[in-house]
Amino acid sequence: MDEKLKQVEQILKKYGQEQLLDGYNRLPGEKEKQDFLNSILTVDFNQIEKLFASCKESKDFSNSKIEPIDYVDKSKLSKEDYEKYEKIGSKKIKEGKLAVVTMAGGQGTRLGHTGPKGTYDLGLDTHKSIFEILCDTLKEAREKYKVDIPWYIMTSDENNAETEDFFKKNNYFGYPEKCITFFKQGKLPMLSTEGKILLNEKGEIKEAADGHGGIFQSMLKDGVIYDMKARGIEWVFIGGVDNVLVKMVDSVLIGLAEEKHVLAAGKSIVKAGPKEKVGVFCKKNGKPSVIEYSEISEEMAAETTADGELKYGESHILCNLFNIKAIEKISKMELPYHVAFKKAKYLDKDGNVVSPTEPNAYKFEAFLFDAFESLDDMAILRVKREDEFAPVKNAEGVDSPETARKLYIDFHNKNK
Ligand code: UTP
Repeated sequence: MDEKLKQVEQILKKYGQEQLLDGYNRLPGEKEKQDFLNSILTVDFNQIEKLFASCKESKDFSNSKIEPIDYVDKSKLSKEDYEKYEKIGSKKIKEGKLAVVTMAGGQGTRLGHTGPKGTYDLGLDTHKSIFEILCDTLKEAREKYKVDIPWYIMTSDENNAETEDFFKKNNYFGYPEKCITFFKQGKLPMLSTEGKILLNEKGEIKEAADGHGGIFQSMLKDGVIYDMKARGIEWVFIGGVDNVLVKMVDSVLIGLAEEKHVLAAGKSIVKAGPKEKVGVFCKKNGKPSVIEYSEISEEMAAETTADGELKYGESHILCNLFNIKAIEKISKMELPYHVAFKKAKYLDKDGNVVSPTEPNAYKFEAFLFDAFESLDDMAILRVKREDEFAPVKNAEGVDSPETARKLYIDFHNKNK
C-alpha cells in the first residue's frame, strides 16, 4: 500500500476522522487522490480538536474588568491640534510611509451578490463598483500627496481569481498596477456537529476563510510584511471592503497615533442607541479591546456619562491603523477563534451532495479586534457617521446598497 496513504490512515484513526477516507476512495484519478492526501497532511488535527471543544464552551467575562476607553472627537479638536496632527500625518504620507489594506476575503452571504463583494455595482449613475469607489480615494490621495500609496487587497481562496480578474478587466481603475498587491487569507476546515471534518461537493476537505483576524498571519506568510518593510512602510491602514465611505488615507489619524506614541489607532462612531448591534471600544483589564453587542449586558449598554452620552458608545467600524511593528508582533501570535454555526453544503458518506436548509456546520473565525488586547494602548478617533460609515451588509433594509448609496451621494453632494 502507498506509504502516504498508510500514514494518513493512522492520523485519521488517531483523531477519529476516518470518514475522510470515504472521500479518498471515491476520487477518480491518482492526481486527485494524492492532492487529497497532501491536503490531509496539512491539517493541524490537534487544533481541530481544540476548536471543536471550544464550540461547547461558553464565554465568561465576569472576571474581566471592563471600563470605558478615552477617545478624541475629530470634530471637536481645536484648530491648533487638528493642524498639528494633520501636519505630522501628511509628512508621513508624503514620505511614502503609509500603506493601506482592504480586507475582501469575506463571503458576503448576507448581501447575496454572486461574486466578490467589491465587484458589486452600488447603483450610482456611474455604475462604479465598490472596489472602484475605494480606489477613487487613493487616486485623490495620490494627487494630493504626490505619492503612490501601496494598496494590498486580502482575498480568500474562494474569490481571489475573480477579484484579480476584475481589477485586470477594469485596468486597475487607473491606479498604478505596481502599487496593487493581492494576497490570500488563511482557511480552516468546517466541522459537523459531531466534530467531523466535512467534504465539499468536489470531495475535498471543506474549508472556510478563517475570519478577518487571520489577516496578520496571512500578511506574514504571504510576504506582505516583508514587502511593506522593504518599501519603508511605517503605518498600515486596515479596513473592510464594504464601507463605501471609508477614509483609508487620513493624515489626522496618523498624526494622532504618532503624537500619542501608540502603535495603533482606531476610528469610532457614536453608537446610535443602547440596542444598536455593534461592537464598542473599551478597556478590558486595562488593555484596549472591543466588546461585542452579544457580550455586553443590557445595563452596561445603557449606562451614560455625566453629559448624557453612552458610556460604552464608541462603535468599532473596522477602520484601524497599525504600526508595522505592531503588525509584526501580532502576526506571530495566535488569536482566539470564535465559532459560528452555518449552513454548509457537503458530501455525505454515500457521495451525495447535501444542501441543508438549517445550520449544520461549525465555522471558525478570528476577529481583527482581538489583536487590540496585545497592545498597551491605542488612540481612538471619533468621526462622524455620515462622513465615514456607509456599510453594505444586507441585500435590503438597514446597511444595504440602498442606504449606503444614499449616504455616499449625500456625502459627495455636501463636499462638492
Ligand atoms: P463581515 O463580518 O461583514 O462578513 O466582514 P462578510 O463576509 O463581508 O459578510 P457576511 O457576514 O458573510 O454577510 C467584514 C469585513 O471583513 C472582511 C469582509 O470581506 C469585510 O470587508 N472579511 C471577513 C475578510 O476579509 N475575511 C473573513 O474571513 C471575514
